[in-house]
Amino acid sequence: MQIAIPAERLAGEHRVAATPETVKKLVAMGHAVEIEQGAGRRAAVLDAAYAEAGARLVADRATLLGAADIVLTVRALDADAVAELKSGAVLIGQLSPYHNDTLPQLAAKQVSAFAMELLPRTTRAQSMDVLSSQNNIAGYKAVLLATHYYPRFMPMLMTAAGTVKPARVLIMGVGVAGLQAIATAKRLGAVVEATDVRASTKEQVESLGGKFIDVPMSEEEKKANDGVYAKEMSDDYKRRQAELVAKHARAADIIITTALIPGKKAPLLISAEVVQAMKPGSVIVDLAAEAGGNCALTVPGEAVTLDNGVTVVGHTNLPAQLAADASSLYARNLLTFLGLMLGKDGFKLDLDDDLLAATLITHAGELRFGK
Ligand code: NAI
Repeated sequence: MQIAIPAERLAGEHRVAATPETVKKLVAMGHAVEIEQGAGRRAAVLDAAYAEAGARLVADRATLLGAADIVLTVRALDADAVAELKSGAVLIGQLSPYHNDTLPQLAAKQVSAFAMELLPRTTRAQSMDVLSSQNNIAGYKAVLLATHYYPRFMPMLMTAAGTVKPARVLIMGVGVAGLQAIATAKRLGAVVEATDVRASTKEQVESLGGKFIDVPMSEEEKKANDGVYAKEMSDDYKRRQAELVAKHARAADIIITTALIPGKKAPLLISAEVVQAMKPGSVIVDLAAEAGGNCALTVPGEAVTLDNGVTVVGHTNLPAQLAADASSLYARNLLTFLGLMLGKDGFKLDLDDDLLAATLITHAGELRFGK
């Protein structure tokens, strides 16, 4: 197969969908790999490294896309790029199925498009799980961003000039990003508290040395949230949660919010009143900024310091800020996923494979997503 990797076009998207390591493996399997010139530069991979791994560098994007049987991307292609694809090509990436205007165009071109975000959270899928590999990075970077804006130390320090108190960090939403944020804040010496609607996260928080903030829940609510994904909560739960959050937020120096509900607007966890009541110098990093934000005062893409001295950070796409490691993990996820369709006997799309079936959003002229 001819496999193409275009450079990402979205502003701030520094990642790339293949690395010399994955290129080498694809070439060893007998495939031809073509990469757009400069595609890896911002992820610390130069063209020469790709060439050494066996890829051919291509300057013109239309030529690259037009010849490919399989295209690997980090983000969705724009309409112009989709227009260049070969009819019947395979496209694999984080294709944002809930917000992607090019799906009808992809279907019309008979493209088999796979949205990696839709991968089921099963054991077999773990090594291909791009949400895990990238959110882990986001959780780490969120803490580093917080330290950048926080005007104090994180750890407790005893110096000749006096003692410095450790920072109190509150993590809201304990999925992959939240767990990494807890671990990173602990490593920096902070005192960490965390909360989540899924009661099963309590043990995970405690195993990382954090304190779990328990929002009282009925047995029915606990049962509704014992899966891998959170459900939207009742107004009554939201009220109980908001009361507890308000209390803990006033004491916190740093809050990192990561709460998401797949396909829906992010739940609002921190109201403007709560932000107003926080201490000057406190920092909120809202990892849900792109999905509408967990904090009422988040401005997506910006860090805003309010009149009361609280900074609300709404930077989006944090994995792209660690583009080298993010790309190498992402590229390995895609290589493993490609293994589901590229076997010893060549290319085969087995639509009975649960992982392929769950991620395939357009195929054979049909728009499958949302059906
Ligand atoms: P996510 O990014 O969808 O959400 C982040 C966190 O926010 C979740 O823990 C969620 O429960 C929480 N949340 C949602 N609404 C909330 C609210 N109103 N208040 C407080 N917290 C709220 O989650 P992510 O990181 O994708 O992980 C979801 C689950 O999938 C986890 O249980 C994780 O362990 C599991 N997982 C399983 C994998 C596998 O088996 N292949 C791979 C990766 C994750």
